[in-house]
Amino acid sequence: MASLLILTIFCPFVLAATGLSFDDAAGTVHLKISQGELLGKRIDAYESRTGYGFLGIPFGAPPVGPLRFAKPVAASSWEGVRNVTVKGDACPAVGELTYKRPEGGPMSEDCLHTYVYASKNCLTKGGCPIMWVLHGGRYNFESPVVFVDDVIVHNFASDGQDVVVIIPAYRLENFGFLNIAPGMNTSATPNTAVWDLLLALQWTRREAHYFGGDPKKITVFGHSAGAQFADVISVSPHFKGLFNGMVMMSGADTAFEAGYKSNSLASWVTATILGCATDSTDRSDVVAVEAVIECMREKTWQEIVAANEELNTHPEDYHGPHADGPGGILPLSPSQLALTRPPVRTMIGTTAAEFHDTKYALNADGTANLKKVAELCEGFGYAIGYKHPEVMTKLCLDYYMQGRNVMSLQQDSMFFMPTFETARRLMKKGNKVTVFLYSFTYKGVEGAFKKYMPLDDKDDHPSHSEDYVYILGMHRGNFTPKDYEIENIYSGMVLNFVKTGNPSLGKGQPAWKPFNKIGRNYYEIDFNDALRMPGMKKGYQAGAVKLWVDDAEKYGGPITPPEELVSYADRFNPMDMVTAYASHYLNDSLAHDKTLESEQDQYKIWADYINNRRFKHLQGKEMYLMDLVDKQESTRSVNVVTGKVQIQASAGMFSVEILVICVSAILIFLLLRCCLHCVGVCQERKGYEEF
Ligand SMILES: *[C@@H]1O[C@H](CO)[C@@H](O)[C@H](O)[C@H]1NC(C)=O
Ligand SMILES: *[C@@H]1O[C@H](CO)[C@@H](O)[C@H](O)[C@H]1NC(C)=O
Ligand SMILES: *[C@@H]1O[C@H](CO)[C@@H](O)[C@H](O)[C@H]1NC(C)=O
Repeated sequence: MASLLILTIFCPFVLAATGLSFDDAAGTVHLKISQGELLGKRIDAYESRTGYGFLGIPFGAPPVGPLRFAKPVAASSWEGVRNVTVKGDACPAVGELTYKRPEGGPMSEDCLHTYVYASKNCLTKGGCPIMWVLHGGRYNFESPVVFVDDVIVHNFASDGQDVVVIIPAYRLENFGFLNIAPGMNTSATPNTAVWDLLLALQWTRREAHYFGGDPKKITVFGHSAGAQFADVISVSPHFKGLFNGMVMMSGADTAFEAGYKSNSLASWVTATILGCATDSTDRSDVVAVEAVIECMREKTWQEIVAANEELNTHPEDYHGPHADGPGGILPLSPSQLALTRPPVRTMIGTTAAEFHDTKYALNADGTANLKKVAELCEGFGYAIGYKHPEVMTKLCLDYYMQGRNVMSLQQDSMFFMPTFETARRLMKKGNKVTVFLYSFTYKGVEGAFKKYMPLDDKDDHPSHSEDYVYILGMHRGNFTPKDYEIENIYSGMVLNFVKTGNPSLGKGQPAWKPFNKIGRNYYEIDFNDALRMPGMKKGYQAGAVKLWVDDAEKYGGPITPPEELVSYADRFNPMDMVTAYASHYLNDSLAHDKTLESEQDQYKIWADYINNRRFKHLQGKEMYLMDLVDKQESTRSVNVVTGKVQIQASAGMFSVEILVICVSAILIFLLLRCCLHCVGVCQERKGYEEF
């Protein structure tokens, strides 16, 4: 009794001593961290859940002047109270894309801030696990400022949930990924955005305890490019040991090579648009290059954003983190570093219908279009750098000519394969970690998701981001009562993973067992009327994984990324190629930001590039697929039987007769005649089958 009395009396002082005090009437909270005092705000979410937000605490000094295009430096402390009840500025990028509204929103280079959300429990008692959220946006747009406060509080940062959510900003596009002089020692550091995250994570480990977060329990969480970014930092030696869990939703970025030249072409185009470089600038002369960087530092950020926007009329683009050599933050390409990634427990997965951009390769009657599928398969076969590209092309063709498989080609290669590979590599021998793999298959999201791409077909759901409305509320539409229940279940699994390392819910739901390489088991997330999920299944994305992992290893052979990629790109990104092809055939740019003109340029460049590589590889010795297709497409269709591409003629054609005659070789008197006729056709067919 006495001790209780003492506690009651001393509690306010204890709080005061830690620099924490709540003002319920004003709906604010005061908190002292090592940099100074903060004024945060109470956030009242739905279902009577409440939490607190500190919306923009500087971890990095504004990267302006000599700090633009350079490693960030820690933010200084401040005098008095810093008011973080209102969100700060987003990092400069195309504002319309970041804010998803035509007028954009506030941006400035003073943007290296963290956004922290915590419950009263966490703030007063401490010891709460941390969910460290990386935003998406193709490394080129979006920001922590566009997250939905009340959803974060409801799902994670309220009493009872008790996770401290921290969202760091990082520099985007040109500001975060300029790579003007690969391999040269200049004042512009490559991968500044990755350095931003390192500084933000160091800040988190130093400051999180003031918010009630336990710096020894950090789970990096990302969706889309945020998940890709999580994948990348988890392979960087600089981030080793700084966090101990990952949640990767719908994205992985270590399956394809990102070499040290990545982004340099886009960097030079922007430098040229800004008037800081010309075609005759000597790119190998360090003095000339330094002058270009200085010139770019003298521009306003608005001029640089305008140049980034103009870049969208060019085929070149920024593609995020890449190798930056000895002493860099990614000394080797992320795909190489991934082979020796430090183990970290991971929850990872995808939606069943992320992107169907390759659907354009279906004919109006729903069958696969030989020419379009062949072109895609050759693109992948030759651009990735397999030892036996013609074999991969053939296997790819066999698989995607079946049924409507081809509409998944993009997601198979860009999402399912990399997700599976990340899961598999984390589970390598000797790594004592658990990986939980999922596939979100619920097709009923409908109005709960505010769509940003046209999805007319039921098969196109659940698409990229559709499931994310239940986790952090981006693109949230109108929730039905069932959607609120699903939100509690789905985000509850993420919450459990962040808190305990195991996403299983109990509560009458099937238990979630860790991924293993043999069963390739995953948890299927779907909701029947009783809101019960199917749970464990075997063979995650079996078709895609067989082709792009098993067959690729067995028959495609080792991958050596091409020395030179298409003239406008310096790393291979499946989406980049597919978007160019799809845009070309649909006569409409499918890219978020590229113009149709630049997509058409890209298409032409890809087509020439693949032709050249194929020609070199086959040394003109054999017929290759596209020639055959060109010759035959007007009269023939392809039928895939027992894994072999066979030429099947449509009725009434001259070629049918030839084939029928060939097949009726049992009739001896026709044999001679057949062979005479067949010399040409059978020759073609042979080349075709060996392809
Ligand atoms: C904090 O900043 C916001 C936005 O500028 C302002 O409305 C609010 O009054 C400020 N709060 C205090 C206590 O100064
Ligand atoms: C790069 O240049 C800076 C400044 O001139 C110098 O301090 C540094 O040692 C150089 N680094 C390397 C790897 O040459
Ligand atoms: C393709 O689109 C452009 C611009 O939208 C239009 O001018 C052109 O006529 C279209 N071409 C075809 C073949 O539909």
